[in-house]
Amino acid sequence: MRVITTRQEMAQACRQTARPLGLVPTMGALHAGHLELVRRAREDNSTVAVTIFINPTQFGPKEDLGKYPRALEQDLALLRPLSVDLVYAPSVEQVYPSGFDTWVDPGKVAVRLEGACRPGHFRGVATVVTKLFTLIRPDRAYFGQKDGQQCLVVRQLARDLDLGVDVVVLPTVREHDGLAMSSRNAYLTPDQRWAAPVVYRALCRAEQLWREGERDAETLRQVARAELESEPLVEAIDYVSVADADTLEELDAIQGKAMASVAVSLGRTRLIDNVILG
Ligand code: PAJ
Repeated sequence: MRVITTRQEMAQACRQTARPLGLVPTMGALHAGHLELVRRAREDNSTVAVTIFINPTQFGPKEDLGKYPRALEQDLALLRPLSVDLVYAPSVEQVYPSGFDTWVDPGKVAVRLEGACRPGHFRGVATVVTKLFTLIRPDRAYFGQKDGQQCLVVRQLARDLDLGVDVVVLPTVREHDGLAMSSRNAYLTPDQRWAAPVVYRALCRAEQLWREGERDAETLRQVARAELESEPLVEAIDYVSVADADTLEELDAIQGKAMASVAVSLGRTRLIDNVILG
């Protein structure tokens, strides 16, 4: 496993390596959700590259950039047994040298939900993912359904900018009690951690109704919201959405595939999760 920190060296290593090349972009503090993406990339490709970069441009001014968990040595120890070939862990200066001034501005699919709650977030994600794709030139890139809207934004940009990357989306990996794994779960106090499965439970309540044949989206939103509101440690509900799974337009009646998604705050920790209906 080669650990690379400069863009010149990374570009050269990727040009010289065996194809197909599978890429797993991450911000580190790796957990079983990330490792599932790496395992799948290993199965599908001759070369596997993982990037570890806490991308400052996708954090808002009041967000958790400063305290986002950093654990490079531990991350490398988790990646070695999975036979990863290349790890790219650049400094901020490598990715955004002084004078950097070009941005990738995603369209409609980035406007709602996370886009509405976190202005500029998807511009930062789209910009860094485009930069990683153009530097590394992967054949495939692996993303988690946990960040459902991010998957749609990345798929769209890969297509629109002719990047020639096949975007592979894998299911959300969960803790035993249903909580979606996330680097941010480390922020939760023991009480909040105990309460946090309410997020997935709310989505499961909606999914169960949908399975029973309910197709009125507002009814599903209300059921999910009621479940979230039943937990006193949920301090704010940013959104409860039942939207078209491709466009993320909020639905009245569910016909095709839909995505039920929620974002809540437990104390200062923001949790997001989603399930696909259909
Ligand atoms: P990060 O939050 O580190 O996540 C890296 C990848 O792991 C993303 O594709 C994310 O959806 C996936 N992932 C996270 N938790 C998961 C879980 N419980 N199950 C399955 N997959 C999971 O997402 C980012 O970083 C950044 O926005 C990035 C794409 C790297 C751009 O900076």
